[in-house]
Amino acid sequence: MSSLSSVFFLGAILLAHLSHCLASPAVTCQSLSSTLPGKVFYPGSDAYNSSINSYTYVNDRLLPACIVGPRSTGDVVSSVKILGKYPSTHFAIRGGGHSSNTNFSNTAGGVTIDMRAIKAVTINEGRDTVSVGAGALWRDVYAKTDPRNISVLGGRIATVGVGGLTSGGGISYFSPSRGWVCDGVANFEIALSSGKLVNANVDSNPDLFAALKGGQNNFGIITRFDLKTFVIKPFWGGTISYNNSTDDAILAAFTKHKTPKNYDQEMSIVQNMAYDSSTGAFNGITAVYYTTGQANPKQLKFYTDIKPQLSNTMRLSKPGDFAQELEDFGVPDEYTLAAVTSFRFSPTVIAETHAKWKAWVLKIGKIANLTAVVNLQSLPPPPRSPRTPNSFGFSPNSHPEKDLVPFTLSINYKDASATGALTKEIRRFIKEIDRPESFKYMNYAGWFQDPIKSFGAVQVQKLRSVSRKYDSTQMFQKQVVGGFKLW
Ligand SMILES: *[C@@H]1O[C@H](CO)[C@@H](O)[C@H](O)[C@H]1NC(C)=O
Ligand SMILES: *[C@@H]1O[C@H](CO)[C@@H](O)[C@H](O)[C@H]1NC(C)=O
Ligand SMILES: *[C@@H]1O[C@H](CO)[C@@H](O)[C@H](O)[C@H]1NC(C)=O
Ligand SMILES: *[C@@H]1O[C@H](CO)[C@@H](O)[C@H](O)[C@H]1NC(C)=O
Ligand SMILES: *[C@@H]1O[C@H](CO)[C@@H](O)[C@H](O)[C@H]1NC(C)=O
Ligand SMILES: *[C@@H]1O[C@H](CO)[C@@H](O)[C@H](O)[C@H]1NC(C)=O
Repeated sequence: MSSLSSVFFLGAILLAHLSHCLASPAVTCQSLSSTLPGKVFYPGSDAYNSSINSYTYVNDRLLPACIVGPRSTGDVVSSVKILGKYPSTHFAIRGGGHSSNTNFSNTAGGVTIDMRAIKAVTINEGRDTVSVGAGALWRDVYAKTDPRNISVLGGRIATVGVGGLTSGGGISYFSPSRGWVCDGVANFEIALSSGKLVNANVDSNPDLFAALKGGQNNFGIITRFDLKTFVIKPFWGGTISYNNSTDDAILAAFTKHKTPKNYDQEMSIVQNMAYDSSTGAFNGITAVYYTTGQANPKQLKFYTDIKPQLSNTMRLSKPGDFAQELEDFGVPDEYTLAAVTSFRFSPTVIAETHAKWKAWVLKIGKIANLTAVVNLQSLPPPPRSPRTPNSFGFSPNSHPEKDLVPFTLSINYKDASATGALTKEIRRFIKEIDRPESFKYMNYAGWFQDPIKSFGAVQVQKLRSVSRKYDSTQMFQKQVVGGFKLW
C-alpha cells in the first residue's frame, strides 16, 4: 500500500468510525436488524407494542427507536458487539420490567434489549442448582421448583423479573436465615462489552462475581443465573389487612419483631401501611411468613392475633402461590415513585417515622388522587463467609438484619401531570427523614438517590476497579444511562 493510499485507507476507517459515533439510533437499529433478522421490533408492530405495554408502571413505557428481542445468549453477545460500534446510541436492558424507576429498564429514543424470551428454567439434577435465563420471572422459576419441593432465594411477587431483583440484591421468604437473593447465586453468565461471554463464580472471575451481587446493570448483560436450591415443605404465610384502628398495635408488634433480641430467622414480614387519598382510608397490610412448615405457629401469634382484621389468607403454601397473592395486590397502569432509607433500630423510631409519614401523605393527597405506602421490612444478613462477599459492604460479622429497619416510600397515581410536584415532594420528604450515611437498598431506591454510595467508599472503589477491568470501554457507564451508576 502506498503511503498515500494508506493515509486514505486510515481516513476511511476514521470516517467510518466517526459516522458510527454520530450515527442516529435508526442506523444502529438497522445494523441490529441485519444481524438479527426478525428479532428487532419497531414502533407500530405488535411485538413492539406488547413489549411496551407489558411494563408494570406507566412511567416505564418509554418509546425506544427499536426493541431487540434476543432469543439466545448468542443474540445477546451479537447485540452488545453491534451496540459497541455505535457509542452514541443509548440502550437499556429489560427483564421483568417491574422497576419503579423511569429509564432503568427502557430508554426513550434508544435501543431496549428485551430479555423476556431468554427464560428457560432448568433443574440441574444432582448439582443443587437451577439455571435460569435472565429474562425469566419468579413465577417461571417457582413453576419448576415448587412441584419438586425445592426452592431458591427468590422474589415474593410473581411477575418481578429474576434479572433486576437478583442483580440489585433481592429479599426472599428465606432471607432471614439464608441472606440476600444475590447470595443464592452460584454462577452468573454475562456478556461483557468486549464481546466475550464469561462465567463469574467463586473460582472464575471472583471479583466480578462479588461485584454482580448488587452491581445492577453496571458490568454487562447477565444472560443466565445458576441459583442454589434447597429442600422446602409448604410453610405458613399469607396476608392480613386491617383498618386504621389497629395502626398502633401493628406498629408495636413490628417494633417487637425488630427488637434485636427477638430476631427469629424463620420469620419474615412485609409490613405495609397504606393511604388512599380518594377515600381518606389508612390500612395496614401485613404479608408474613414462617418457614418451619408448622401450621399456625405460636411464634406469629403476637402478629396474627391483632384484631379487627378485614381479611386474612394465612395458610400453608409454597412460594409460587404466595408470590401470585402479592402480585394480585398490584395496581396496574399507574405511575409510581419510590424512595428508601434505613434507620438504626430504636424502640420509638418506627412509630415516630410513621407519624411523620401520615402527616406527609395527607398533604400530598391534595396534589393528586394517589395511594401511598410505607413499607417496613428487615434487611437480610450479610454473607458470613469472607469468600463470598456481595457489594453491600456489611462485614461478615455485622448484623444489619437486626440493627437496621429499611423504610421504603412509594406513591402510585394516574395523573401524569402530577409527576413533577410529587417527585419534588418525595425527594424532600426522604431527605427530611434520612441520614445521609444510612444504607439504601437499591431495588427500593428512587432514581434521584445514590444507593451505591451508601455501600461505603471502599465498596465504591472496588466496584469501579471491577468496572475498569471488565468494561474497559465503559459501555455500561455511558451507553446504558438508566440504573445507579458507579461514577
Ligand atoms: C400500539 O399501541 C398504540 C397505543 O397503545 C396504538 O395506538 C397502536 O394502534 C398500537 N399499534 C399496534 C400495531 O397494535
Ligand atoms: C430519563 O432519561 C432521559 C434521557 O434519556 C432524561 O432526559 C430523563 O430526565 C430521565 N428521567 C428520569 C426520571 O431519570
Ligand atoms: C412434595 O411434598 C408433598 C408433601 O408436601 C408430597 O406429597 C409430594 O409427593 C412431594 N413431591 C415430590 C416431587 O417429592
Ligand atoms: C375499623 O373496624 C372496627 C371494627 O370492625 C370498626 O368499629 C371501626 O369503625 C372501623 N374503622 C374504620 C375507620 O373503618
Ligand atoms: C381512622 O380513620 C377515620 C376515618 O378515616 C378517622 O376518623 C379516625 O380518626 C382514624 N383513627 C385513627 C386511630 O387513626
Ligand atoms: C380526585 O378525583 C376526584 C374524582 O375524580 C376529583 O373530583 C378530585 O378533584 C381529584 N383530586 C385531586 C387532588 O386531583
